[in-house]
Amino acid sequence: MVITEDGTLTPDDLPEPVPGAGEVLIEVAAAGVNRADLLQLKGLHPPPEGAATWPGLEASGTIRSLGPGVSGWSVGDRVTALLDGGGYAELALARAENLLPVPEALDLVEAAAFPEALGTLWSNLAAVPDLDGPAALIGAAGEEPPATGRTILVHGGSGGVGSIAIQLCTTLGARVLTTAGGPERTARCLDLGAVAAIDHRSEDFVERVRELTDGRGVDVVLDPIGAAYLEKNISVLAAHGHLVVIGMQKGTKGTLNLAPMLYRWLSLHGTALRARPQPEKAAIMADVRRRAWPLVTRGTVQAVVHERLPLTEAMAAHRLLADGVAFGKVLLLP
Ligand SMILES: NC(=O)c1ccc[n+]([C@@H]2O[C@H](COP(=O)([O-])OP(=O)(O)OC[C@H]3O[C@@H](n4cnc5c(N)ncnc54)[C@H](OP(=O)(O)O)[C@@H]3O)[C@@H](O)[C@H]2O)c1
Repeated sequence: MVITEDGTLTPDDLPEPVPGAGEVLIEVAAAGVNRADLLQLKGLHPPPEGAATWPGLEASGTIRSLGPGVSGWSVGDRVTALLDGGGYAELALARAENLLPVPEALDLVEAAAFPEALGTLWSNLAAVPDLDGPAALIGAAGEEPPATGRTILVHGGSGGVGSIAIQLCTTLGARVLTTAGGPERTARCLDLGAVAAIDHRSEDFVERVRELTDGRGVDVVLDPIGAAYLEKNISVLAAHGHLVVIGMQKGTKGTLNLAPMLYRWLSLHGTALRARPQPEKAAIMADVRRRAWPLVTRGTVQAVVHERLPLTEAMAAHRLLADGVAFGKVLLLP
């Protein structure tokens, strides 16, 4: 599905890609739709140099061929991959370093729901020193970590990233508060493990977080909203708290009052996964594979799939995200 000049998607026939050094070619079973794909159609969030120019940041499927120098993977392996772009297709190129193995017990289509969310969450939350401790307890042996007693506010627990964030952070032992739009969506966030879900359409999350934490505030805010929430997010952080900004849905520029940052020893983190150099992505995906992927393969963290649509209906899939209808992931099937 290529991007037209007027910013929509249309099917096109392109030559079969040939995997280069360190790459594999995947026969796509499903591609995950991300909000970043919507931005790409508007000319924002461009693909890194050399990547496919059509959208698709994650795809699952079967390896069809291997490029030179690839080891540890074979033709026919079931995989899911973090991509630089190009997942909205029947065939997609992926760096072998960015693959996760999909066991028989895991639905190959649903496996497309994970790479972007896990890569984003792991790289952001592991960057927070206090959270890396409990994360480190998750190993291949798969013992559940003890509760950390830390509290995280996950904004947009109803989204593709947020629905995985609630489950992952809960499993890591944190107490998860979340926001979502409307009573049905907040109720579903509670089902995913959040201890409280605040309706951002009708409630003031600052007030509610204060009530829910007896005035203490939260240790971490995971925020895809950006400018509109900047001051509020700082105000709900407990001493030594961390604001982790992963999105800018409501603006890029805000006013940051440094006084609470200093006097309550706060920190502000921000990262974008797609723009990272490949060696950093490879390190993130290796960490995801070692420490987060076992939680998925044994079913503790599950895909939340709103709808599976044919690939040719990619524009309809984008509208489900743009209109705030999708709960969890929308997947495209070639
Ligand atoms: N930094 C990175 O590397 C990285 C990687 C992946 C994604 N992201 C970002 O993460 C965000 C989520 O991506 P996605 O693909 O999961 O998108 P998505 O499925 O469309 O989710 C968007 C979420 O934002 C929530 N939201 C909208 N307005 C809100 C508000 N005022 N208060 C609280 N929540 C609000 C929505 O909740 P309701 O619909 O229930 O209102 C929904 O849960 C996007 O901003 C994306 O750009 C960043």
